[in-house]
Amino acid sequence: MTDVLELVDVSVVREGRALISDISWSIAEGERWVILGPNGAGKTTLLQVAASYLYPTTGTVAVLGEKLGSVDVFELRQRIGLAGASMLDRVPRDQTVLKTVLTAAYGMTATWQETYEATDESRALALLDRLGMRGYEERTFGTLSEGERKRTLIARGLMTDPELLLLDEPAAGLDLGGREDLVRRLGALAQDEYAPSMAMVTHHVEEIAPGFTHVLMIRQGKVLAAGPIDTELTARNLSLCFGLPLTLERHGDRWSAQGLPLG
Ligand SMILES: Nc1ncnc2c1ncn2[C@@H]1O[C@H](COP(=O)(O)OP(=O)(O)OP(=O)(O)O)[C@@H](O)[C@H]1O
Ligand SMILES: [Mg+2]
Repeated sequence: MTDVLELVDVSVVREGRALISDISWSIAEGERWVILGPNGAGKTTLLQVAASYLYPTTGTVAVLGEKLGSVDVFELRQRIGLAGASMLDRVPRDQTVLKTVLTAAYGMTATWQETYEATDESRALALLDRLGMRGYEERTFGTLSEGERKRTLIARGLMTDPELLLLDEPAAGLDLGGREDLVRRLGALAQDEYAPSMAMVTHHVEEIAPGFTHVLMIRQGKVLAAGPIDTELTARNLSLCFGLPLTLERHGDRWSAQGLPLG
């Protein structure tokens, strides 16, 4: 069985500096990965490569069995769902929530003169409902709260029924209730055998939803640890990743971390 994503020795170099360097990483079908790492570690860069928006400077990338560089990326991108901060800037403020989700089916962020199929509309409404956005269809994107925008973009990411779903800090900026609501929804998705393979970037182990199976930790553009959460998500790896001594606790299927007291 081919991997959903396979990176071999991938580096992205800009202005003489490696943003990510020698990354080898693969996602097998059905795996749900958490990507952890401090600010500037290269997480978003890595996700952009996985989403086929950024070509590696060196190394090879295969997404859904297609090698980047020898495939029509426009077709490939239809098979990948991406929700992240980079998308927030691309959605017009005056576009309705329903249109924001619907336009994903046509591979564009702004609406044009397309006529949408009724089946597309019912799918978009069902996804909005699943993300807790029922009743918001006609609101414009610009009037939504941070959490509502995040949930709309995840619904959008799922619209094309992707084989790979990539989420960049989906819980950033949410209040405690919003975070817990999102973790619950992502947990339902992660545990749904028909849901796509997933990779989610986060800074906080508290945001890891039940059902996530693997963790990739990166620091300064390099892989620090990669593998099953059960073996790789340790206080030692987390401390090395974030560069300070941390304790890590597991509470059933959730996690928490904190710095060790000084002295
Ligand atoms: N086009 C670019 N040219 C030069 N440097 C860049 C470019 N894009 C990103 N960088 C740098 O690459 C590094 C990694 O950026 P990236 O956005 O991938 O980090 P990140 O892990 O997502 O960080 P954060 O947690 O803050 O979102 C950063 O130091 C950033 O300043
Ligand atoms: Mg980032």
